[in-house]
Amino acid sequence: VSRAIGAQLSPGDEIIVTRLDHDANISPWLALQEKGVVVKFADFDVEDCTLDLSHLESLITPKTKLVAVGYASNAVGTINPVKEIAAMAHAVGAKIWVDAVHLAPHAPIDVQAIDCDFLMCSPYKFFGPHSGALWGRYKLLDELPAYKVRPAEDVPPHKFELGTGNFEAMAGISAAVNYLADLGETFGAEFANTYRQAGFSGRRLALKQAMSAIAAYERPLLKQMIDGLQAIPGIRIYGITNEALYDRRTPTVAFTKEGVATPDIAKKLGDAGIFVWDGHYYAIEVVKRLGLYENGGMIRVGIAHYNTAAEVDRFLDEMS
Ligand SMILES: Cc1ncc(COP(=O)(O)O)c(C=O)c1O
Repeated sequence: VSRAIGAQLSPGDEIIVTRLDHDANISPWLALQEKGVVVKFADFDVEDCTLDLSHLESLITPKTKLVAVGYASNAVGTINPVKEIAAMAHAVGAKIWVDAVHLAPHAPIDVQAIDCDFLMCSPYKFFGPHSGALWGRYKLLDELPAYKVRPAEDVPPHKFELGTGNFEAMAGISAAVNYLADLGETFGAEFANTYRQAGFSGRRLALKQAMSAIAAYERPLLKQMIDGLQAIPGIRIYGITNEALYDRRTPTVAFTKEGVATPDIAKKLGDAGIFVWDGHYYAIEVVKRLGLYENGGMIRVGIAHYNTAAEVDRFLDEMS
């Protein structure tokens, strides 16, 4: 799709990406430099790893055609104010492309409410199989040239769905969505009224309840994780640590420990049956900007709705 968007651009047109993003939302846009598109990087604040919105805004010009931004950072967990960024982009007639891959397992997403133009996601992050999902405004998708075989339909979504459908994955994705809806019906009663009043019903309501229940369940585990890590000498957490701002982050925590190499920490935890990742997890701009690229990056540990307080304790025991 980035190539299709690129086909509509001219030399000198500008795209803004951010240093907080996974490379999946940077490299495809950098590839368009080949045809003279200018790519600019919006910076983030290294203190709390939040996007520098005034820097981003200063990069937007009448030549800006697209702002590509992550909904949440897969490295440090920051949730970006995408609605505000959409307004900045739209003010000059640019479009906003949102990478929601990291936010999807942790919070409800509403493309209408954030007023985005495109939003992409990977169903394996919300407990389904490996596949890709793209939402786009129909008119924009309709106008995009698709790389397709001639007999395939000329209208969205079919013109972007190449070859025979991956029906096994679709069945798996439906099962994951059903699973989430079930979670919503089972654990999300307290959120029902708010969403009903906002016009949601049926399975859409159940999914909103599910994602709100997941966010609420994960919140105390995040606090337990951050408080526990901060009590260990030599640990430095990268990202928001102020509890009052937890709604601006996912429960994905990146950290280093003074004097200990990150691969050694990952190995020790792995030996104990605790799966984390060390390095950059494809968020190379984040790790470079933090000055950690040459030094093994950070350890990243993530909480999901199936984790428990006892597991967080076990992780903290291994770390101390
Ligand atoms: C924020 C973000 N964007 C994009 C991707 C890439 O998705 P995929 O693994 O489906 O290529 C990931 C994967 O971790 C991610 O976390």
